[in-house]
Amino acid sequence: MKISLLATALPFFGQVVNALSAAEWRSQSIYFLLTDRFARTDGSTSASCDLSQRAYCGGSWQGIIDHLDYIQGMGFTAVWITPITKQMPQTTSEGTGFHGYWQQDIYSVNPNFGTADDIKALSNAIHDRGMYLMIDVVANHMGYNGPGASTDYSVFNPFNSASYFHSYCPISDYNNQNLVENCWLGDDTVSLTDLNTQSDQVRNVWYSWVKDLVANYTVDGLRIDTVKHVEKDFWTGYSQAAGVYTLGEVLHGDPAYTCPYQGYVDGVFNYPIYYQLLNAFKSSSGSISSLVSMINSVSSDCKDPTLLGSFIENHDNPRFPSYTSDMSQAKSVIAYVFFADGIPTIYSGQEQHYAGANDPYNREAIWLSGYATDSELYKFITTANKIRKLAIGKDSSYLTTRNNAFYTDSNTIAMRKGSSGSQVITVLSNSGSSGGSYTLNLNNHGYSSGAQLVEIYTCSSVQVDSNGNMPVPMASGLPRVLVPSSWVTGSGLCGTSSGTASGTTTLITTTTSKVSSSTSSTCVAATTLPIAFTEKVTTSYGEKVFITGSITQLGNWNTANAVALSASQYTSANPVWTVSLDLPVGTTFQYKFIKKDQDGSVIWESDPNRSYTVGNGCTGVKLAVGDSWR
Ligand SMILES: *[C@@H]1O[C@H](CO)[C@@H](O)[C@H](O)[C@H]1NC(C)=O
Ligand SMILES: *[C@@H]1O[C@H](CO)[C@@H](O)[C@H](O)[C@H]1NC(C)=O
Repeated sequence: MKISLLATALPFFGQVVNALSAAEWRSQSIYFLLTDRFARTDGSTSASCDLSQRAYCGGSWQGIIDHLDYIQGMGFTAVWITPITKQMPQTTSEGTGFHGYWQQDIYSVNPNFGTADDIKALSNAIHDRGMYLMIDVVANHMGYNGPGASTDYSVFNPFNSASYFHSYCPISDYNNQNLVENCWLGDDTVSLTDLNTQSDQVRNVWYSWVKDLVANYTVDGLRIDTVKHVEKDFWTGYSQAAGVYTLGEVLHGDPAYTCPYQGYVDGVFNYPIYYQLLNAFKSSSGSISSLVSMINSVSSDCKDPTLLGSFIENHDNPRFPSYTSDMSQAKSVIAYVFFADGIPTIYSGQEQHYAGANDPYNREAIWLSGYATDSELYKFITTANKIRKLAIGKDSSYLTTRNNAFYTDSNTIAMRKGSSGSQVITVLSNSGSSGGSYTLNLNNHGYSSGAQLVEIYTCSSVQVDSNGNMPVPMASGLPRVLVPSSWVTGSGLCGTSSGTASGTTTLITTTTSKVSSSTSSTCVAATTLPIAFTEKVTTSYGEKVFITGSITQLGNWNTANAVALSASQYTSANPVWTVSLDLPVGTTFQYKFIKKDQDGSVIWESDPNRSYTVGNGCTGVKLAVGDSWR
């Protein structure tokens, strides 16, 4: 009651409150960085950083300001920075507080990173770009150089006496929630002095502190550390006082444990999915079915999965490439993070395929990459952000519609998300770069026969056939993301122009009769385009499959001149015959597949005739048609 009165009254005091609501955070995508490790004020790209030392390496808030182009260039709309508060000053055998989780003075900022004015300048620079700032905060504990039992409380500001804290006890059993909340993290080298958050005195300090933090630095959202180590009802008042989206760390893989925290903070990091996603994609023998059942559990246990933080890497877990160096698998998990439910969060260095394993080795200095914007994953993430932005712009229900895994096999998951008839279709394989090239025929994708889509990472046109099959061109274990082809013009994707198109890829326009005038100059309109036909048909030994139809290239229905398909991709599990033909753009024709056996007798597919129109496109575009024998 008091809160809402205040909020109404504020404009009369001339204070501009520009906080971003939880709903507004749904459409953001977050780049998470460690301030000490992202960028230095001197702009160095060679300053050494010995990870094993856990020392300060020189990153600063000014450094972040100077490298916002690098972050925004990938399409991120929000930056999450590690805690800003002043830390324990000592260097111990466990290193320093460079990460920000060992605070001692909550009213001073960490002098290693700059000044309070630098944070304000960072906030302004971020907002000037139309981006948002998320700051990491810790309310569970302070940090102390020594064993908990011999803490000198006078080092803390303002919590300068034992009365603000739980009495010392180490967490001896992580399955005992009472101990998790009321005992101490850390060890005898650095103890994490555990605040008595049940006391009104401590609560009042934190609630007014967080309100001031948000106001002082115009913060748009908070990432909250160690949420499960504080009793749930503390967070209600904390979130209310903050008045912005709160994204909590509840480090637990069981949705029955993790999801209920969403009643106290707006979102939590999706650790339940994290573990299953990692297991499913770190090797080609990972379990896709466990991932799918977790998608369903999270969807039923969590109040709103679309407000969770979606991630596969952070500073507390080994980076994904420390499990597998395979680039296709790395792309697949990133695609999951972007196209499943929740707010995508990418950890700085992920775009450079950094492979650090456990802390401290997963906290690399990003400047040593030279901030390369031509790296494979920098480009992949850039496209992912564009696709997601496109879906958000075209489909007002995209973000709130829950992701649906509608097809799986032992190596593949296909998901659809968005409004009926215009879902984004994401197909992910864990088979890695050695995975084969084949057409995956999907059903239950929600599109009607004849629907035209574009697979964005290959810029291929895909048409749903008359049987409702969507033929998705798979290759090398790479992720595939399909959107309605009508969305693509003007999106900046596949060579179409947009404000920032760099346009090295190719454009598809599948159904129109002329090449769109909005194509960028890099698109050279093709006169013929290659079409990969795939016919799924089980054949017996000696039988061969041909395609015939109403145009000369297909023999004008004369079976003697029909075009032979190849069985080179045929397996008993996936009995496909394939052929690729170059056909003039704009050609409309009817066709059927036929089988010829050894003595030359012909078996026709049943009626009706199939029909196809070759769309327009830039040179380099590949079209695909997938059919099944009828
Ligand atoms: C916010 O700014 C005020 C005025 O400078 C200062 O007294 C207070 O400590 C600041 N609080 C935080 C959390 O930054
Ligand atoms: C298929 O095309 C052939 C050749 O034009 C024609 O004779 C036949 O009637 C067509 N079948 C149907 C069902 O339209």
